[in-house]
Amino acid sequence: MCPTPFRSPIRVSEFFPYRGGELHAEEIAVSRIATAVGTPFYIYSAAAFAAQYRRFAEAFARERPLICYAVKANSNLAVLRVFAGLGAGADVVSEGELRRALAAGMPPQRILFSGVGKTPAELEAAIDAEIHQINIESVPELCRLSEIARVRGRVAPVAIRVNPDVDARTHAKISTGMKENKFGIDLGEVIAAYSLATELPGIEPVGLAVHIGSQLVDLEPYRRAFVRVAGLVRELRANGLAVTRIDLGGGLGIRYRAEDAPEPTSYARLVREIFGSAGLAMTFEPGRVLAGPAGLLVARVIYVKQGAAKRIVIVDAAMNDLIRPALYEAWHDIVPVRLPAADAFFAPADVVGPVCETTDTFAVDRDLPPVAEGDLVAFTAAGAYGAVMSSTYNSRPLVPEVLVAGTRFDVIRARPSYDDMLSLDTVPTWLSEVSPAPARKRGAA
Ligand code: LLP
Repeated sequence: MCPTPFRSPIRVSEFFPYRGGELHAEEIAVSRIATAVGTPFYIYSAAAFAAQYRRFAEAFARERPLICYAVKANSNLAVLRVFAGLGAGADVVSEGELRRALAAGMPPQRILFSGVGKTPAELEAAIDAEIHQINIESVPELCRLSEIARVRGRVAPVAIRVNPDVDARTHAKISTGMKENKFGIDLGEVIAAYSLATELPGIEPVGLAVHIGSQLVDLEPYRRAFVRVAGLVRELRANGLAVTRIDLGGGLGIRYRAEDAPEPTSYARLVREIFGSAGLAMTFEPGRVLAGPAGLLVARVIYVKQGAAKRIVIVDAAMNDLIRPALYEAWHDIVPVRLPAADAFFAPADVVGPVCETTDTFAVDRDLPPVAEGDLVAFTAAGAYGAVMSSTYNSRPLVPEVLVAGTRFDVIRARPSYDDMLSLDTVPTWLSEVSPAPARKRGAA
């Protein structure tokens, strides 16, 4: 393929501007942070988190909903603290996330617990913390919660999560609203489950919850799901059952490539159209839309390999640091930290990490400006489902996280040392008494 001249300007967002040809996070040059913390690393903009949160909250100013940030998207304590300071609550899916939300100062009255497989210990923790709501996804879970609450002499506020059997038209691996998915209680069973909840000790059913998937760029699936849920609310009320709350989940998509991601205001209009006059207290569980655009993953080019078939750019970040491309064929824009010359030619390249499998590929045939060893590049829209999904595969230390606010930056998770990493393992005494076999001489049989 012939190199193509560079056409559209390279741009990330107002929170990650180019100044003097250098990518900045708010007021700080990304290259300065790279020098201070080493690569790869995640970088977040506090102002971008706030802007995303405010955009969402202002769209729903009339409803004044409880906005429970989906902690799974980015659970760093400092990030949770930013959202807590903006007035957000938390949607948690494990005891670990519950502890994080509490540790970050989220009031329990703004925390809700979702998830299909909460263990008895997790239900106990949720009850003991006196959180706002527990979303129940099956009748066995409802019975287990009733038992636990009864023994503790408590009453748990519960929403029944509905599986509305709607195709979210997103990636199959992050789609949750069809009847063959593991999530929620089938439409036809909701009334019975809700009635049961009114009878069980230790349970106060307060409403319904729904979440049909993540990265929705089309509002129509929401409409179909919400219409079904609104119908259920009417039916429950017609049966004399009290329904005071509705939890509409998360899922709003963001722009990774050329998607036309819906505006929160359009989403709010749709919600208003369907639930406007129902007299329900509303909750949302947005994750990606609040955190995604606020983060970058910064990496350094280790080598550029000009193969017979293609140019391969090998960077020091890998699939263990950002797994979304490997897992969901997800696209993240890759931008140079230093802008190329105005007349630079773009040419296709594969961008890969050092992990020993072909899955460790961030981009195939991506049009990139010239990049050389030592250059910094940034993967955009990596503030959600980036650091939280990282692992130490190939014994690569977890990647550090940095929060920028104006002219200051702080490491909010340090890179663990190799000693830290090795110290997690224990060699049992019987094995430590076994001395390693002497190394064989080279060439010995
Ligand atoms: N509520 C529930 C019950 C959820 O399961 C999720 C996400 C959310 C809220 C937040 O959804 P959001 O607003 O972030 O779309 N790792 C995947 C995304 C998995 C989403 C899982 N559930 C990715 O990297 O795309």
